[in-house]
Amino acid sequence: MKPTAKFISFEGIDGAGKSTHIAYVAQRLQAALVAHQVQVVCSREPGGTPLGETLREVLLQQKMHLETEALLMFAVRREHIAQLIEPALSRGDWVISDRFTDASFAYQGGGRHLSIEKLSILEQWVHPHLQPDLTLLFDVPLDVARARLDATRQLDKFEREKAEFFFDTRTEYLRRAAEFPQRFRIIDSTQSIEIIRKELDVLIDELLTNALAS
Ligand code: TMP
Repeated sequence: MKPTAKFISFEGIDGAGKSTHIAYVAQRLQAALVAHQVQVVCSREPGGTPLGETLREVLLQQKMHLETEALLMFAVRREHIAQLIEPALSRGDWVISDRFTDASFAYQGGGRHLSIEKLSILEQWVHPHLQPDLTLLFDVPLDVARARLDATRQLDKFEREKAEFFFDTRTEYLRRAAEFPQRFRIIDSTQSIEIIRKELDVLIDELLTNALAS
């Protein structure tokens, strides 16, 4: 029996360390799913399609009105869902996305104070029936996140934001995690990679068991 396709998102403020763990989860899932002819597709937002990657450059480098920024994030997402996420899930493949709509609520809603009602309207428009099956929120205090940003490369528009912006972004992520406890798992990202991997192993096993049972 083919496992039920799953959609997993990774979230966290810049410097939370989520990228280190995406490759690990993808590789573990792929190893388990290969026997079922299931592919694990890794993608990201903003991005994920040729158009999305072009718009990513604009979004990460250019200043713009906060509503323009939110609309562009959701435009990129619309394309990502149409071109990559839905086709993959329909084939029975699994999708891992480095960020999804929770990032818009956290960054544009929390960080930039755009109204949550407006963001909810966009969410309803762009994906009324699609939500991740699992959202892993990598959570760290601000000072840890700041210290982790790679000082050897040029920071993008978001990474250059002040501590207050990230404080509000993190607060909104945590608020959403409390609002949707069935979907979110908070990972304390100050822990060592080995301990986090052990936590991830438990979640991966649960997910696979659930996918094979349903
Ligand atoms: P990344 O550095 O994790 O690839 O994400 C790019 C940046 O884009 C990151 O600073 C968060 C930001 N972002 C938003 O502000 N809103 C969104 O909806 C998404 C998906 C990302």
